[in-house]
Amino acid sequence: IDHFQPKHLAGKRVLITAGPTSEAIDPVRVITNRSSGKTGYAIAQAAREAGAQVVLVSGPTSLPCPRHVLRIDTESAIDMHAIVMNEATQADIFISVAAVADWHVINSSQQKLKKTEQGQGLPELQFAPNPDILAEVARLSDGPWCVGFAAETENLHEHAEAKRKRKGIPLLVGNLAQHAMNADTTQFVLFDDKGHQALPAQPKLSAARELILAIAQRHSSIQAK
Ligand code: C5P
Repeated sequence: IDHFQPKHLAGKRVLITAGPTSEAIDPVRVITNRSSGKTGYAIAQAAREAGAQVVLVSGPTSLPCPRHVLRIDTESAIDMHAIVMNEATQADIFISVAAVADWHVINSSQQKLKKTEQGQGLPELQFAPNPDILAEVARLSDGPWCVGFAAETENLHEHAEAKRKRKGIPLLVGNLAQHAMNADTTQFVLFDDKGHQALPAQPKLSAARELILAIAQRHSSIQAK
């Protein structure tokens, strides 16, 4: 049914991150974010329908890969960062949807940690910050046009616009986390240098198609300059 979709991104190479990252504590335990990957996978499908060549760098999810999309599986933020930096200079557009963990455990154990006996105390995890993948891609001089996401639980407008400026990106998509998380519907608010625009609440795939159209319009207008 691919050919019924307008090809707004024909010939463009689109790199997308999706899903959570998973940071090891030991071989059986991880720290992760609540992210099903549904939004990022819907955006990958919509970009492909719009004619793009899509590379989807995915953290652990239970979703099937959309048709004709190249998926690269990753676990930790450090893995995801390495793959993305390798792919980014070949992409025209980078859409960073992944819920990347802010920290990883530096003293993770090669062996399963044992439940401590009484009086022996609890494991002491030490954390270090993860690389900010989106901010780093946005700083590349020959890098792609970047789109970020902000899932907030309150004050969406303030946080989203501040985040867009801090990351140095032309477009940031805000959504209210409590509505979108693990749901099949979502509402996007687009923030750019002209202000903001709320899209209707709708199923994730139709929201993704609207977002892809908005991205294609903005990307082609900067290319025309
Ligand atoms: O403020 P925060 O860092 O959570 O911003 C979220 C945006 O940044 C999302 O687009 C997310 O994919 C991206 N991000 C990233 N690497 C991180 C943290 C967030 O690419 N370490």
